Amino acid sequence: MSAVIEIDGLRKTFHTLRQGRRVAVDGFDLRVDAGQIHGFLGPNGSGKTTTLRALLGLVRADGGRMSMLGAPSPQRLPEVAGRVGAIVESPQFFGNFTARRTLRLLALAGGVPTGRVDEVLEQVGLRDRGDERVKGYSLGMKQRLAVASALLKSPELLILDEPANGLDPAGIREMRDLMRSLAEAGVTVLLSSHILAEIQLICDHVTIISHGRRVAAGPVDEVLAGFDQHEYAVRVAEPERAGELLRALGLSVTAQPDRLVVGGVDEPELITRTLGEQGVWVRELVPLRPDLESVFLELTGTGPHPTIPRQVDDSLLPEQTQKDAAIDLDARVGDSREVGA
Ligand SMILES: Nc1ncnc2c1ncn2[C@@H]1O[C@H](COP(=O)(O)OP(=O)(O)OP(=O)(O)O)[C@@H](O)[C@H]1O
Ligand SMILES: [Mg+2]
Repeated sequence: MSAVIEIDGLRKTFHTLRQGRRVAVDGFDLRVDAGQIHGFLGPNGSGKTTTLRALLGLVRADGGRMSMLGAPSPQRLPEVAGRVGAIVESPQFFGNFTARRTLRLLALAGGVPTGRVDEVLEQVGLRDRGDERVKGYSLGMKQRLAVASALLKSPELLILDEPANGLDPAGIREMRDLMRSLAEAGVTVLLSSHILAEIQLICDHVTIISHGRRVAAGPVDEVLAGFDQHEYAVRVAEPERAGELLRALGLSVTAQPDRLVVGGVDEPELITRTLGEQGVWVRELVPLRPDLESVFLELTGTGPHPTIPRQVDDSLLPEQTQKDAAIDLDARVGDSREVGA
């Protein structure tokens, strides 16, 4: 599998008069292989946009190595720029222009045949609205136009910062279908988001960033499986008795108002058999799989607090995340420094 994006130990600190020094990216590693739809996930302010800007030569990194399509970035960026479509932060379009005119101008400026304009409008679902002025567009329609502009030059690599921002659930699904059809056509996609459901819906691989450092990376399923507690929800008529019987097997049992949550279960048959033998009949047995949301909240420490509003910088530094929670399931990511290592 060949790497389309490789970032190794990227560092970037901003210096501002008011706030002083702010470390935005702190030794971050990322590897995106050809054909992936790779999600770049992290809380607000964790360094996603800064990383993408550094990769694209829009901000100068303080350290680390980066490459795109085999070319070191930013030194040899011009050689591969024609094969990369990128949208970082919402692009500004002229409100008085229609989407079609906007794309025609961009096509002309980029030396792309203007016949592509209709194709990309169709791809992003704006075919019938392409002749309206952009100022009358909704946020989601502007996002679609931005994606259309990135697709104009039929890129091999598409980099999108928060592409699903402002999309409704149907729009997110359409975005997923679009990303999948692009991936099937051989395009590699890197998209950032702080919204987990989006990543889980759209992406096959994920890298999670917290405070400018990678805290997990790998195929979405494997990242989730790494957090599987082998838990099952069990519903029975006699929960107290069932709890005793299951605890006697050495399983962890937590009683909830309407069910028991049983952990450490390798074979669910053990539950039904043990309870059935004692005449306690199981009404429902449901595996509790971790979702990306709980994994993300655990890795970044961004779970809601019941009383105090969480501040953007309150997410965990990687050292503070549990050592065994820091995982790197994708061996191909290589031996770059890992959390706690
Ligand atoms: N130009 C800048 N000057 C000063 N600080 C900056 C600048 N750009 C980013 N930062 C700081 O760097 C940190 C990372 O910001 P960044 O925009 O990369 O986060 P992000 O992960 O993209 O967040 P979001 O999900 O909110 O888009 C933040 O603390 C931010 O305030
Ligand atoms: Mg951002």
